[in-house]
Amino acid sequence: MLIFLIIFFQTFSFLANSISNCKFWGFPQLINKFNLRGHYQDVASEFNGAFIKSARYNIFVGPPLNISPLRYQLYYVNNTYGHMYTDTSIDIQFSQAYEINQIIVWLYDIDGRNHCFKIIAIDQYNQETELFQGLNLIGMVKITFQDQIIQTVKIVNLPGGTSSKLAIIKISAFYANWNLI
Ligand SMILES: *[C@@H]1O[C@H](CO)[C@@H](O)[C@H](O)[C@H]1NC(C)=O
Repeated sequence: MLIFLIIFFQTFSFLANSISNCKFWGFPQLINKFNLRGHYQDVASEFNGAFIKSARYNIFVGPPLNISPLRYQLYYVNNTYGHMYTDTSIDIQFSQAYEINQIIVWLYDIDGRNHCFKIIAIDQYNQETELFQGLNLIGMVKITFQDQIIQTVKIVNLPGGTSSKLAIIKISAFYANWNLI
């Protein structure tokens, strides 16, 4: 019994020291990170409660069931079906602020056009951070950045592309594993 107590005490004091030194994460801290990072899933998905805040000044092309860039069924796309565009910006609001480090934007690429845009992140306190700016981009664009807590993503059209509009097929946002991105 005495030996058990000594072992228990030593084990406990080891854990307590480690946590206070941040060398070791306990289970509650892991769960908090897991939730803050949206379970490592696409937090811009329509199934995760995200919506398009800018919808009233965006144009959606095609039947209503297949036009949101937050959908999963994105493989039927042509000039009259399955994409959206804007002169200004497309703003995606997540269901809460999430910690993410990657956004993927699939630009409308059927006719080989290129686009210029920047991405602004807005956190839960309305602080804005520019995450990315790119010119003459084509197809699928993967943007990675330092871990950032974000409530709203603003994809802003910039002049200089083939057409004056920013046309998009799909948007996703994740916390991705740094060793793999
Ligand atoms: C666009 O794709 C949809 C869905 O596949 C199809 O019904 C429609 O006929 C296509 N339109 C054109 C112009 O190709």
